[in-house]
Amino acid sequence: MKMWSGRFRQPLDPQFERWQRSFEFDRRLLRYELAASGAHAHALKTAGILSSDELIQILQGLEGIAKLAESEEFLADAEAEDVHHFVEKRLAAAIGETGYKLHSGRSRNEQIATDLRLYVRAATDEMRQQLADFCEAFILRAGESGDAAMPAYTHLQKAEPVLIGHWLMAYVEMFLRDAERLADGRRRLNLCPLGSGAVAGATLPLNRESIAKALEFAGPTANSIDATSDRDFVIEFVNTLSLLAMHLSRWAEEMILFSSHEYGFVNLPETYSTGSSAMPQKKNPDLLELVRGKSGRIIGDATSLIVTMKGLPLAYNKDLQETQEPLFDATDTMLGLLPLVTGWMKEMTLEFERMENAAQTGFMNAWAAATYLTQRGIPSRLAHEKVGRAVQICVDKKCELQDLPLEELRAIEPAFAQDFYPCLKLESVLAIHDVPGGTAPNRVRQAMAAAKKKIEALREEVHAHA
Ligand code: ARG
Repeated sequence: MKMWSGRFRQPLDPQFERWQRSFEFDRRLLRYELAASGAHAHALKTAGILSSDELIQILQGLEGIAKLAESEEFLADAEAEDVHHFVEKRLAAAIGETGYKLHSGRSRNEQIATDLRLYVRAATDEMRQQLADFCEAFILRAGESGDAAMPAYTHLQKAEPVLIGHWLMAYVEMFLRDAERLADGRRRLNLCPLGSGAVAGATLPLNRESIAKALEFAGPTANSIDATSDRDFVIEFVNTLSLLAMHLSRWAEEMILFSSHEYGFVNLPETYSTGSSAMPQKKNPDLLELVRGKSGRIIGDATSLIVTMKGLPLAYNKDLQETQEPLFDATDTMLGLLPLVTGWMKEMTLEFERMENAAQTGFMNAWAAATYLTQRGIPSRLAHEKVGRAVQICVDKKCELQDLPLEELRAIEPAFAQDFYPCLKLESVLAIHDVPGGTAPNRVRQAMAAAKKKIEALREEVHAHA
């Protein structure tokens, strides 16, 4: 039976009928549809619409559908308009006309809004777990690199030496922010639209508080018009994913760059690389390239969502159905790639010696040299100028600052003394960045400990939701 045939004299154009259906993609919401239906059934019983007997029949019917949902055959339904229609049909087939009582006082508009919130909530929890794993892989690598250094770049030009651990922990900060943004969205979406009806609120005295509680929402949504037309939580979620994807893309880009022969900092794991069908020597960073590529797709999904929403008057419009596929695509794409990038991070290796050597050339101690003068009372602008002149001499001589004899330095500035040379050593340069968030080894270790705590708290939070 159709959900709305009474008013119509003519059947739908068959092509249109097929084209407007959403069951092909919204069937993935089945478990949420069943959970929400169970909660609604309980409320109908309390409101006096269902007898105890009918409630039990309906709940058992819903359970039966959940069990059968494992089989593809059961789900292959060419008539179901959407997941809501599918459940109604199957319930009526299983328990008879009582099945049709389940739809009392509710609308598909509130159902889809609820199913999608439940879907995004579950995806959020899963993704936060995956992000915790990913961050842990970085921290593991950071721990392994001890006090080894590498160049840090600005404008992609050598800037200052940093601990390899400091570089890796920069990514942890980015991904932990993403995990936090996910949690933040979760807090906002965790309200239950059920009881909002089609637009004006339920026509039966349903206890919205207890429906919300049964589905582990913090409470019911506040306005039925908003609740049935709101997809902010979808947009927020996919935009959070697009930010995360952008971070992953930057990470991938840097790993690709650092794995090139010219840098030679990163060894690509064979388990996640491919060869060339033409050039026998090649090992290509396919995983990283695909991550960079898929980020474009997720950012596209976010754009598609906001464009779909921008012209819609309140409240429900069928256009809203078009928000599902970009959501599912972005979610699938992200859930599929996060375990892979974690695997990659665990398998890749770093060329410590090469990185450390690179950290000691290219005048990356020049700021430390200027700081030496600043500490001896030279105004920093002048100190900068004088060290710049020393660098100029080195460029001509093709040497580093520490190779200049003291007389030459003193000719530029008499404040230079023998104790200048130890200040130029890599360890000293690293050690002077001794501020919270800086690259001094003790600071990096502090940052690692703080990140570990955050991850622990994140895991506990996700666990509490499970
Ligand atoms: N499949 C629809 C969607 O995803 C369900 C809601 C349909 N509501 C309606 N009034 N036609 O948006």
